[in-house]
Amino acid sequence: MELITQRLRLREFVEGDYLALREMDCIPEMHTYERDLPDEAETRKSLDENIRNQQEVPRTTFRFAITIPPQDAVRGILKLSRQWEAIREWEVGWALHPHEWGKGYAGEAAWQVMDWAFRELNVHRIVAFCHADNTTSVRVMEKLGMHQDGRLRETRWLKGEWWDEFVYSILDNEWRCLKDLTRL
Ligand SMILES: CC(C)(COP(=O)(O)OP(=O)(O)OC[C@H]1O[C@@H](n2cnc3c(N)ncnc32)[C@H](O)[C@@H]1OP(=O)(O)O)[C@@H](O)C(=O)NCCC(=O)NCCS
Repeated sequence: MELITQRLRLREFVEGDYLALREMDCIPEMHTYERDLPDEAETRKSLDENIRNQQEVPRTTFRFAITIPPQDAVRGILKLSRQWEAIREWEVGWALHPHEWGKGYAGEAAWQVMDWAFRELNVHRIVAFCHADNTTSVRVMEKLGMHQDGRLRETRWLKGEWWDEFVYSILDNEWRCLKDLTRL
């Protein structure tokens, strides 16, 4: 499974991606709003899980490696996972190596994955969550046309404190309108 955008290639993770993932797991700025820095065992576990997910039938988790052709090295991660089967709700999430921030890559990758999910996976609703202070991630959601559903109070425990998070969403019919508008 792979998806191509104007500047990016989103592909499945492979065993050889361990070192690139490990490098990103050691960069504090990548985890400021998410969690404590993962140790080697956690990096290994997440890569193993990614590779195992590829065998799921039906598939409920897609974790794409974001690469920038012609290079094949992992420069970021775009995750899409089913949250609630009954209402066909899926969650999207993103992270990039700091050297790639500010180039619009997260939105470009997410747009392609969300468009594919609405077309191919019969998704009704895509949601995204972020730490309430993560203004960069909020911008990505806004630029994707997502709406803020609300602020969840103290749903994150991080660095010894409770934090709020935002939840954003976009519906299948809104996505179709958005695509029609951008075609004009
Ligand atoms: C969130 C993240 C994926 C954004 O990706 P990105 O491709 O850099 O996003 P964009 O280029 O669209 O920039 C989004 C906003 O970030 C800000 N920004 C731009 N360049 C920046 C830089 N060099 N450094 C920090 N922020 C910057 C701008 O406000 C920009 O909004 P604008 O386009 O309206 O000016 C990235 O910052 C990241 O990986 N962060 C760490 C992991 C994380 O927090 N993931 C989200 C979990 S919910």
